[in-house]
Amino acid sequence: MCGIVGYVGSATPSGRPLEVVIEGLRRLEYRGYDSAGVALVAPGEPLAVAKKAGKLANLVEELDARPLPAATAAIGHTRWATHGGPTDTNAHPHVSGKVAVIHNGIVENFAELRDELAAAGAVFVSQTDTEVVAHLLARAYDELGDLTTAMQQVAGRLDGTFTLLAVHADRPGLVVGARHDSPLVVGLGQGENFLGSDVAAFIAHTRDAMELGQDQVVSITADEVAVTDFAGRPAQAKRFVVDWDARAAEKGGFRSFMDKEIHDEPQAVADTLLGRTDRAGRLTLDEVRIDESVLRAVDKIVVVACGTAAYAGHVAKYAIEHWCRIPVEVELAHEFRYRDPVVDERTLVVAISQSGETMDTLMAVRHAREQGSRVLAIVNTHGSTIPRESDAVLYTHAGPEVAVASTKAFLAQITAAYLLGLYLAELRGNMFHDEVAAILDELRAVPGKIQQVIDRSGRVQEVARWMADTPTVLFLGRHVGYPVAMEGALKLKELAYIHAEGFPAGELKHGPIALIEPGQPVFVVVPSPRGRDALHSKVVSNIQEIRARGARTLVIAEDGDEAVLPYADEVFWVPQTPTLLAPLVTVVPLQIFACELATAKGLDVDQPRNLAKSVTVE
Ligand code: G6P
Repeated sequence: MCGIVGYVGSATPSGRPLEVVIEGLRRLEYRGYDSAGVALVAPGEPLAVAKKAGKLANLVEELDARPLPAATAAIGHTRWATHGGPTDTNAHPHVSGKVAVIHNGIVENFAELRDELAAAGAVFVSQTDTEVVAHLLARAYDELGDLTTAMQQVAGRLDGTFTLLAVHADRPGLVVGARHDSPLVVGLGQGENFLGSDVAAFIAHTRDAMELGQDQVVSITADEVAVTDFAGRPAQAKRFVVDWDARAAEKGGFRSFMDKEIHDEPQAVADTLLGRTDRAGRLTLDEVRIDESVLRAVDKIVVVACGTAAYAGHVAKYAIEHWCRIPVEVELAHEFRYRDPVVDERTLVVAISQSGETMDTLMAVRHAREQGSRVLAIVNTHGSTIPRESDAVLYTHAGPEVAVASTKAFLAQITAAYLLGLYLAELRGNMFHDEVAAILDELRAVPGKIQQVIDRSGRVQEVARWMADTPTVLFLGRHVGYPVAMEGALKLKELAYIHAEGFPAGELKHGPIALIEPGQPVFVVVPSPRGRDALHSKVVSNIQEIRARGARTLVIAEDGDEAVLPYADEVFWVPQTPTLLAPLVTVVPLQIFACELATAKGLDVDQPRNLAKSVTVE
């Protein structure tokens, strides 16, 4: 979950290595922001290290106060603490002799290695698991005289998950990395090369990239990239071209990345729909390279995901069951993995993840494949681990999502899940081509509708600002409105640190209604009156029930739905959208509400406390 950057440039020392690394860390800060640090090397110079607890800005301040010398290579780290609190000492890089190391992951056998090293005279200054790696590497280098072989040897001794980068003061033109179950990609430049936890670290400099495989060691110099396995045998890494541009990872004039990413939503949905049909308008989904006969035989789908991605999975369940008549289960990945789920070769497991790195989801993917299931990943980040370990991948094209709490990726995940549902429905003969084409047309109209919701968001922002002191907010929804209610509550918890709960509206009378007291704000996501009549009228009754008990009702309803007016304290109108597609528009006011309320409270919406965007520990 930490962010890692490495850089090697020309043989003449300059400020560029530090600049590149700090800029890369800025783009990776979403991965963790408990501390940040850098290590620089230059010919004939001792190792130069700076590190600081807290956000990257603290490190930058430290570097302004105490500048580091010019360098030829650098590594940098932004941390989400696992072993050892978020202090200056526990910040990476960790140093032993002339070696500096940064690490993302957890070394599970660190206690045993620390005892062994301590017995041999090593002195530990931090509480981290990473420091053992620094000592092991320094010793291996002294014995072997080569940083790459030292890294191969050390990587083979570690249990757990890791991406490691190291520099050595005597090798000023070299950065060596290793990866096992944590992400690492290479950026290929002209007379310079890069390493990063993801491509955001270097897209300002190059789009030419290389994805490392499991258990590989990489050595970069200014002109060369060499990849081996842990045993030192040459290995293959896959080249790819990054299709994001650098500006897409900038704030572009918005107050926050989250604000920008909400404004990116129409584009994220439109881009996710692009290029998925052939000339005749037939869904092709070329990336789904699972044999059609296998897909026809699927008798159950299990969606595994965490957080917001799991709510996208809940929406997918309603749509896929309706269109394909295949039972769909949705399970939090961490629960799935440890309860002996009943899955087999006729089960299609769909793993949804923005980052493609969430360890809980990755473990669920591995477990499912061990049971013989096919795994299809819906992922936003190219070069990440989950797609590589899945049978097929449907990329969402949301572009880089930097704010920790997910917004545009959620909409893109739902869109991709719809595409999968429609594809399966046609393939399996549940729907005719013209029926699928009609829904695709409706989907293509959705980006314009999301834009309308954003354009009309003034009122929801005003209400959010008034409600900055509210201690608790409830969210109700039915059918696809239920996952939307849960996502609305999650956004408020994550961003504004306000207690919030999402309930299925029908469950209200079985308990949650006891929470209603005068003035209690309750958002209600109302289904389209043009959908199932009973669905709409039941939710309108639920609004009456809570209003009668004094709740302040904040209603999200479709344009023209006058039935809600007598019972709503506020109505946030959304354009008419078919029932199953409605989450793509109804969730938007809830995202805007949480973002605005948290901003009004003076909170950092891009980096909420205690969270990290990419949770690469179980
Ligand atoms: C973290 C983030 C959430 C995100 C979840 C799943 O918990 O804070 O915003 O929804 O991880 O992330 P993924 O990258 O797998 O979608």
